[in-house]
Amino acid sequence: MSRRAVTVFLLLLIAVLIGVGLWLRRPGRPIPIPSHLRHPAALARPFGAAVSIPAARADSTYLRDYLETFTSMTPENAMKWDAVQPDRDSWEFGEADALVTLARKTGKRVRGHTLVWGTQLPAWVAGGHWTPAQLRAVLVDHVRTEVAHFRGKVESWDVVNEPLANDGRLAGDVFLRVLGPSYIDLAFRTAHAADPHARLFLNELAGELPGPKQDALVALVAGLRRRGVPIDGVGLEDHTESTHYPRPAQLLTILRRLTSLGLDVEITELDVALRGPPRLALEHQAEAYAATARACAAVPRCTGLTVWGVTDRWSWLGAQAQADLFDARGRPKPALAALRRAFGRG
Ligand code: XIL
Repeated sequence: MSRRAVTVFLLLLIAVLIGVGLWLRRPGRPIPIPSHLRHPAALARPFGAAVSIPAARADSTYLRDYLETFTSMTPENAMKWDAVQPDRDSWEFGEADALVTLARKTGKRVRGHTLVWGTQLPAWVAGGHWTPAQLRAVLVDHVRTEVAHFRGKVESWDVVNEPLANDGRLAGDVFLRVLGPSYIDLAFRTAHAADPHARLFLNELAGELPGPKQDALVALVAGLRRRGVPIDGVGLEDHTESTHYPRPAQLLTILRRLTSLGLDVEITELDVALRGPPRLALEHQAEAYAATARACAAVPRCTGLTVWGVTDRWSWLGAQAQADLFDARGRPKPALAALRRAFGRG
């Protein structure tokens, strides 16, 4: 072979290798399911975790812990606005599809999270100079396209996420500023039209404790019900700490306030950051997880409990918070057994 032929051959080989490398790493490629999986313990209701794409792809211990423990999945970021519609005319469902496929193949229920939220919005939405008619069209297009894409595959949606500020007023995001409070009604009506069988939730943070925010949450969803807006339930996030978490009686109060409006409730994002001396803190963490599970189990319309993360290594709070049910090396903490006992066997 001439030197030229060798050079051409080597260049081609490099191009092919780069091509194969890119193909293997393409967004949306399947997440391989580990072999010899054990079934999750049977519990009375769906028990979920937020699943992170980077973690599920990079860390086989994380993936196995998730698949062998939980029966429900919430994509942690892959369904948010900035992930699925980074530009007005570009839709990127690949990574969310990969998670939904994994969930379906392993028998997990999927909670869709989230359609309309003032955070993790792409700049073209958050920074746009909108007239109400324009932003209304953008919101309707986003909700309709995403819900229709997952029709029949997503059991429930967090349609509107964290609409309230801590003082109980509506949070001042672009939707409220341009459209006023009726953006919430519009989001629910649009989602319902796109998938009439999906259960539609409003998801909120820090509504577990008594106070103005809890009262505002109850008033907000009572108003939606009165106006005939198609809302099925309320998600309570419940990001807490081992020294500071809602007591069972407090949780029961808010769960019952919501279910007495004819709504389902779920704990959607539970985690318990560890505070104080380690041994005691682990016990308190177990108590906190168990107390929340017990409260949900005591309320017939509490239709599931989801924790926000699987192992500490990948926790959104950082590994040092030690907030999850599995430690950074993927080993279960006392909180897992305590939660299972409290949640009730299926
Ligand atoms: C968090 C994710 O866990 C992080 O990875 C991301 O960087 C920011 O968002 N309330 C919510 C979730 O409803 O979507 C948030 O998730 C945590 C707080």
